[in-house]
Amino acid sequence: MKHLLKLGGMTPEEILHILDVADEYKRLHKDGVDPKDLQGKAVALVFAKNSTRTRTSLEVGIYQMGGLGTYLSASDLQTARGEPVQDTARVLGRYYDAIVCRTYKQTTLDMLAKYSGIPVVSGMTDYAHPLQVLTDLMTVRERKGTLAGLKAGFVGDGYNMANSVIVGCLAVGMTVTIACPKGYRPAADVLMLAKQYGDKFTLTNDPDEAARDADVLFTDVWVSMGMEREAEQRRRDFTGFTLDAARMALAKPDCMVQHPLPAHRGEEIAPDVLEAHADEIFDEAENRIYVEKAVLAVLLAGK
Ligand code: CP
Repeated sequence: MKHLLKLGGMTPEEILHILDVADEYKRLHKDGVDPKDLQGKAVALVFAKNSTRTRTSLEVGIYQMGGLGTYLSASDLQTARGEPVQDTARVLGRYYDAIVCRTYKQTTLDMLAKYSGIPVVSGMTDYAHPLQVLTDLMTVRERKGTLAGLKAGFVGDGYNMANSVIVGCLAVGMTVTIACPKGYRPAADVLMLAKQYGDKFTLTNDPDEAARDADVLFTDVWVSMGMEREAEQRRRDFTGFTLDAARMALAKPDCMVQHPLPAHRGEEIAPDVLEAHADEIFDEAENRIYVEKAVLAVLLAGK
């Protein structure tokens, strides 16, 4: 593994190895030990979109590992004044050991990877959110003891989270049902990949179908960053897609909920559902740090 740009192309073994390493970092941290596996390493944290969890968990995690994380808002970089991504990549590649980047287009990450000469990790794009879904898999396995054979449902926008849920969950042997309104389907290449899994994958417009008998239900915001102008239309189009108590009642009694946060109570998730599942949702937020440590350790420290 040279980069983590998306989950597509990763083997189940590579995914499960990251989860194993993340579990180990968590166990050690709870024992009061934080291995300095990034001693002397510097990671550029380039963000073109807002972030609470991704930015702070990376900054704290890299510090705990003995490395340096430099937060670089894309609006402060010379890219905001027209410097090409290729040149920025070549410069950062001479200073840093890795780049984590949150941006809009997946092709921007591809360019960073091509020109920087150092490992590049997606901190989320419009296409994928691999660190988040690796974290969700860690959190589900932590509570359920297994991943293979579980039924995952996703209710909401067929956007970056849905794309990564499909690829990640299918890779580790889960069954996946995605429910999104007409016009909000996941990416075409992700649906092509999912086809290879036969009846383990279902795409539907019926949110109850995704919820029925689910072991874990995923949802995400209806109006993602950069879509603010479409907000009213989206709220109309997603009416009926709230993860609420009636829908939860269709799932298995011990069904988990995973939400990457921030949550919009009363839109994609009902307030009572969020509170009833707060433990696992905030465990999910905590686990971001261990997964990020694991990914950086695999890329930079030969874990
Ligand atoms: N889940 C997630 O990526 O959170 P932030 O947008 O706060 O980083």
